Amino acid sequence: KRVVVFISGSGSNMLSLADACASPDFPAEIVAVISDKASAGGIAKAEARGIRTFAFERKSFASKAEHEAAMLAALDEVKPDILCLAGFMRLLSGDFINRYEGRILNIHPALLPLFPGLNTHQRAIDAGMKIAGCTVHFVTEGMDEGPIVAQAAVPVLSGDGAETLAARILTFEHRLYPLALKLLAEGKVRMEDGRAVHDVSV
Ligand code: GRF
Repeated sequence: KRVVVFISGSGSNMLSLADACASPDFPAEIVAVISDKASAGGIAKAEARGIRTFAFERKSFASKAEHEAAMLAALDEVKPDILCLAGFMRLLSGDFINRYEGRILNIHPALLPLFPGLNTHQRAIDAGMKIAGCTVHFVTEGMDEGPIVAQAAVPVLSGDGAETLAARILTFEHRLYPLALKLLAEGKVRMEDGRAVHDVSV
């Protein structure tokens, strides 16, 4: 399966997907990385791996619609099967999502439906959670509310601050995302009537 990864920053999740895709028996290949920030650190990392990159700086476009049109034109050129949002800090419109309905994944650093949005680690700590984690879900029009594909639970340790918890969860994100992509690429999970349907023929 052909995959395009969307980033806005360091791209550590993109790198873990790239590493997974590098093994010959992994059922997906990253054909491009798209960023909405020309300064995203992940762009150079992708290029160092020989992955084609596109940077569409949001402020270079007069409107969200024109920004999305530019990204969609790049997608029409590379023709991906699956889109993976990885540290991508922008909400995609319903029109954009509908073009790739059921084929867009996102990773969120919390156990959805708890803590959608930002500052998830501080919010988990403030709530006294003893377990936190990360979620890979199908992207739908609402923010961080699509059907769940996979999750990892991560302990909150006494003395944890947002940074130490974020760092611990990030290592789990890097393992979870390739697993979730593999499930989708192999057709072992799909989105049907707004729900994630998992193939349980194990
Ligand atoms: C990660 O915590 C990810 O869950 C969130 O953005 C953070 C940075 O991701 N969406 P990356 O290092 O840019 O992949």
